[in-house]
Amino acid sequence: MSGMSDQPVLVVDFGTSSSAAMVVTGETGELVPDPVTGAPTWPSAVHWDGQSMIVGALAERRKRSEPTAYAAEFKRGMAADVPMTLGDRRFRPIEQVAAVLTALRAEAERRYGAPVHRTVVTVPASYGPDDPRRAQMIAAAEAAGLGPVELLPEPVAAAFAPVAGPPPVPGELVLVYDLGGGTFDTALVRIDERWHEVLGHAAIDDCGGRDIDALLAGRIHADGQQWLAPLLASAAASQSAPATLRLGMAVTDFANRIKHQLSDTPAVEDFLLPDTPAYRLTRADLAQLVAPLLDRTIACCRQMLAAVGVPPASIGSVLLVGGGARMPAVAQAVHDAFQRPLRQVEEPELATVHGAARWLPRSGPRTIRASTETTAMVPLSFGIPGGSARLHRWLVVPGQPYPAGTPLARVRLPGGALWDLVAATPGTLDRLLVPPSAEVTSHQWLALATG
Ligand SMILES: Nc1ncnc2c1ncn2[C@@H]1O[C@H](COP(=O)(O)OP(=O)(O)OP(=O)(O)O)[C@@H](O)[C@H]1O
Ligand SMILES: [Mg+2]
Repeated sequence: MSGMSDQPVLVVDFGTSSSAAMVVTGETGELVPDPVTGAPTWPSAVHWDGQSMIVGALAERRKRSEPTAYAAEFKRGMAADVPMTLGDRRFRPIEQVAAVLTALRAEAERRYGAPVHRTVVTVPASYGPDDPRRAQMIAAAEAAGLGPVELLPEPVAAAFAPVAGPPPVPGELVLVYDLGGGTFDTALVRIDERWHEVLGHAAIDDCGGRDIDALLAGRIHADGQQWLAPLLASAAASQSAPATLRLGMAVTDFANRIKHQLSDTPAVEDFLLPDTPAYRLTRADLAQLVAPLLDRTIACCRQMLAAVGVPPASIGSVLLVGGGARMPAVAQAVHDAFQRPLRQVEEPELATVHGAARWLPRSGPRTIRASTETTAMVPLSFGIPGGSARLHRWLVVPGQPYPAGTPLARVRLPGGALWDLVAATPGTLDRLLVPPSAEVTSHQWLALATG
């Protein structure tokens, strides 16, 4: 009978705007790309077609034809938990999350042919131990057929991501700077071999790539007034609200495309439509445009550092993650602000999922040996790290003989980790003394067994 460590594990970074998943077996991990685009990340979006939930890139493609049956950014709605109408039905945010997770699982199983036995889902550091969103995320993953589910804070995962140059060393303080699609997140983590400690965290909700796209779209409207104004006027004259809406979406997509290009090249010339004049922008123009937004992210980091009493000079390095970290202006701003070594990852939007995958083998065997030997009828008890845990479920039924080393029960530690309680000697459970989901403590009698 094997424990939890050698079976395929699904690792999911469920982002506000995009998600990534990896199937991890031992030390190797394989990304689960969006089947429609082949891209490594999936838009965190859904579309209700009246019968079933379409997710990811396919949902994104239907956004324009049926905007009222489309939803995205529902991760933000989890706290308020207000159902949203999509077409003819209402869905709770966790149902939308579950729909995306279901598709990720199905695609993972289709590609790798392996049923998922265990899942790790990363969550923002702001989801504290008693935050209801933790239970919601677990419930959504279980509804998607992903149980048992563990949660891992996003910055803890990101700090395990493979970086260019030497990796952070135990004890090092790493400032994680995560510029995503919808939000900016920062956290100060102390590096440890097995589980980095989050010393502090902060976030800005409306400060991500999407907001940069909106700023740039505004600039394009201003710069291209001469040729855009007639287009807008004719869209308005068509008296069709969707026409105006679609033109607005096209300008925002154009802004996004220009932004992406400027991460690779110092100047860009592009066309909104085949017959509109060339639009030119330089990296310096973009840097100037986003400077106030980046200033807000730096201020957010400074406030968080001040709150935990860590001066910037004590930071060992700053880790730049999230798709927004691809913009050269970000590294420049962070360097100017903190004058600390920067750590960059090749694919910053995948840092969280890659890091979570690398954390898995370090998460240990996840087994706790019984401290009682089973000879005659004896009580079983276990030394639980931290002193207490919640019983997830029993893995062995009374009356069924088991060899030494058998996982007897699974517990969830307060941090969210799942551990197996393992038999030290062969035996047979006679009577269970605690039911699933009960709080259990170290050395408490959990069952009676015969040897
Ligand atoms: N080459 C690039 N240059 C600039 N920005 C980019 C580039 N590639 C991706 N981005 C931006 O990164 C953002 C997405 O980042 P990411 O995938 O990390 O977000 P997320 O994790 O879904 O969001 P959040 O962290 O808000 O939950 C998008 O706004 C995208 O435009
Ligand atoms: Mg993210």
